[in-house]
Amino acid sequence: MSEFRLPLREDLIGQNPYGAPQDRVVARLNVNENPFSPSRELRQALAAAVMECSAEINRYPDRDAEELREALSNYIVREAGITVPREQVWVANGSNEVMSHIMSAFGGPGRIALSFEPTYSMYPEYARDSFTQLVIIERVSDFSIDVPGACEAIAANRPSVVLVASPNNPTGTETPLEALRALAECAKLNNAILVVDEAYAEFRRDKESTAIKLLHQFPNVIVTRTMSKAFGFAGARVGYCLASAPEIINALMLVRLPYHLSAITQAVAITALSMSGELANQVEILRSERDALVQDLLELNIAVVPSDANFILFGQFPNRHEIWQALLDQGVLIRETGPDGWLRVSIGTPEENQLFIESMRNIVNSNPIV
Ligand SMILES: Cc1ncc(COP(=O)(O)O)c(C=O)c1O
Repeated sequence: MSEFRLPLREDLIGQNPYGAPQDRVVARLNVNENPFSPSRELRQALAAAVMECSAEINRYPDRDAEELREALSNYIVREAGITVPREQVWVANGSNEVMSHIMSAFGGPGRIALSFEPTYSMYPEYARDSFTQLVIIERVSDFSIDVPGACEAIAANRPSVVLVASPNNPTGTETPLEALRALAECAKLNNAILVVDEAYAEFRRDKESTAIKLLHQFPNVIVTRTMSKAFGFAGARVGYCLASAPEIINALMLVRLPYHLSAITQAVAITALSMSGELANQVEILRSERDALVQDLLELNIAVVPSDANFILFGQFPNRHEIWQALLDQGVLIRETGPDGWLRVSIGTPEENQLFIESMRNIVNSNPIV
């Protein structure tokens, strides 16, 4: 009998799955989570919602998640002051899944997506998994996007999807609304969808700069958002998007798996959205902790990229792995990511941030090369 050879797709051979460490150290500051546990009141409400929806757990969930999309639409009115009707909202298991729906519907074999690096490390995977060719444009030295250059690249490459994370991961920088407007215009002229990934929107210093403002002016814009970050709901896996037109959402529905979002996920998300007031306080604490941590790092003579997110990119170190390891040895797990020499730390609780900065101080004081 001949030996069995796994018929794995050629493009997947030798690849590694996405995986950030999930070690239980004192300060877990490596995946940009909200560090605060939900209140007892919210946990009780979540438990009651699960109890209620489990009475019908023998049935498939609402395939189109109508009630949850309505609740998200209402949340956007409260958060951004803009009305985006339910027909222009889509929701899935994390914005990762929303993005894979977008790439399945608008990318595909023979098609091109364009993104601006350094950026979120999953974009190449979304492209690979949807058989879309990814064209990468480098950001300029302050990690902003050269808009005229980007428009030339869009005209030359004719992508069907243009991806911009704003605020961007791992740099923390946001792309100003005027630049996004110019990109939306170039994308429109070239028949492309502009996807603005606003996973970190709630942490911005200038709340006015959301790309949601572009939806009513352009037919080709999608803004993705998530409940994983500011909302403190990463474990529930809920991400969503807001689109210029219902036709875009109808296209995403073509490629979703049947009943993709469980009844339990829908019920807990609706409950959490109904209690979103609890969130505002946490976001304020995280924003001011971030700004204080930026100052603390600058005082240690460490360069910091201005951040509009719940993390900070700092550096540059001749051997960043050494710094990463020295932090881990002191109970602080951060992320070794981004351009050479830089490291990324998520904003934790005040106690975690204190441990991080004290650990950095120890490293700087004991290491003349830093
Ligand atoms: C820029 C960006 N987009 C999207 C995501 C995915 O978030 P989720 O799938 O949890 O909604 C992340 C997570 O780190 C991110 O940094």
